[in-house]
Amino acid sequence: LAFESVHGYAQKFNYYEKLVPEYTLPDALKMQDGTPIKSIRSWERKRRPELLSLFQEHVYGQTRHVPKKLRYRVASTDRNALGGLATRKEVVIFLADDTTRRINLLVYLPNSQNSPVAMFMGLNFAGNQTIHADPGISMSKSWTRFANKPGFNQDGTANEGSRGAYASRWQLEAILEKGYGLATAYHGDLQLDRRDAATLPQNFYTWYNQDRSLQPGENDWGIIGVWAWGLSRMMDYLEQDPDVDANRVALVGHSRLGKAVLWAGAQDERFAMVVSNNSGEGGAALARRKFGETVEEITQAAPHWFGANFKKFARKEEELPVDFHQLLALISPRPLYVASSSEDLWADPKGEYLSAYHAGAAYKLYKLNALCSSAPPAVGEPVQEGVIGYHNRKGAHDITRYDWDLYLSFADKHLKPASFS
Ligand code: GCU
Repeated sequence: LAFESVHGYAQKFNYYEKLVPEYTLPDALKMQDGTPIKSIRSWERKRRPELLSLFQEHVYGQTRHVPKKLRYRVASTDRNALGGLATRKEVVIFLADDTTRRINLLVYLPNSQNSPVAMFMGLNFAGNQTIHADPGISMSKSWTRFANKPGFNQDGTANEGSRGAYASRWQLEAILEKGYGLATAYHGDLQLDRRDAATLPQNFYTWYNQDRSLQPGENDWGIIGVWAWGLSRMMDYLEQDPDVDANRVALVGHSRLGKAVLWAGAQDERFAMVVSNNSGEGGAALARRKFGETVEEITQAAPHWFGANFKKFARKEEELPVDFHQLLALISPRPLYVASSSEDLWADPKGEYLSAYHAGAAYKLYKLNALCSSAPPAVGEPVQEGVIGYHNRKGAHDITRYDWDLYLSFADKHLKPASFS
C-alpha cells in the first residue's frame, strides 16, 4: 500500500494492520469500580453519567451549561425556494443580550410535506452559502480556512464565487425530495477553527466565560465541545419551530464536524439519530488501535479541538479511561450510523467499524439489534439491518451522494416522515 499518497502524510504513521498493537477495550457496561451494568436503569442512571463525565474530563473538556432563554429572529422566509421544492428560512439565534453573538441558522423545509417535518441538522465547513447555489442564502462574513481557494478571498472571507462550493456534501434536493428538512450553520459562528482562536477578539471562550461569570480552567472545553453545545442551541430553536418535528432530528457531520455531532448526540438525548461521516480519531475511531491518526497527531495538529487533558494520552492510549465505542454507546438506544471511506485510512475505517460494533453492547440492553459481525463489511457493502448502520464507501475522505442515499434510507427506517407510508 502506497500510504505516502494517503492524505499526504509521511511514512511515520501506521497504515499497516499488522503493526496495530494488541489492545483491550474498556467495557461500556462496567462501572469504573468494576460493578457490572445489567439493566437499562443502571445504564441510564449510573454508567451513562459516569461515561459522560469521563469524556468531559479526559477528552473534550467540561461542557458549560445552557444559557438563559435565547432570543430568535426569523430574518427571511421564502416559501418558493428552489423552484418551489422548499421553504427556506434564515433564523438568527442570539446567544447574548446584545446582537454580537449569533448563530445564523439556515433551514430548508420540503413543501411536499405537511408540518411538522423530520430534519437533518449539521454544521458546515465554510458558510451557509456554500451548501447550495441558491442565491437567496445570505453570505457568511466570517473568516474561513479557505483563503485563496476558488470563492474565497485572501483574508479567508468568502465571495460570491463560494456559492454552492460544497453543495455535493449536502445533496439538498435529495434530502428534500425524500421528505426531510435540513438545518445548518457555519461552525465558525460559534468558534473559528484556529489554534489561536482563544486569543482572537471574537473568541468564544472569553466571551462565554465573562458573560456567565465562569472561570476558564484546566478542564475547559475545546472547540469540539463548543460546536456540540452550539448544535444543542440550534435544537433549542428547532423545538419551538412549529414547522419542525423536534422529536425527529438527525444530526449529521463530516470529519471534525462528525466528531462534534457524536459528542452532541452523546450528551443531548433530544437528537433522535446521529450520523458520523468519516469522523476518525477523536470521533468514531477506536483510539487504542493506533492506526492512521492517533491521539499524539491529533492533539499536536489541533490541540484546540479538545480539553487540555486529552494530549496526556499521546502514545498512552491504553491509559485513556475511555475509548470511542463508549462515545457511540452513549447514543443508545437511538439510531446511529457510522460511515468510512476506503481511501481515508487516516480515519481508520476498521477502527470506526469496530467502535460501532462494540457500541452494540449498550444497544443490546435495550434488546435492539446492532451490528452482528465483528468483521467489517467489504467496501461498498452497507450494513443497515439493525439500529446501528455502517458502510465503507469506495473513495476519498468526503461526504457524497452515495453516503446521503444510505443515510436517507436509514432515516426512512427509523425517522420516517409521518405522512409517507
Ligand atoms: C484532519 C484531521 C482529522 C479531521 C480532518 C477533517 O485530517 O487530522 O482528525 O477529521 O482533518 O476534519 O477534515
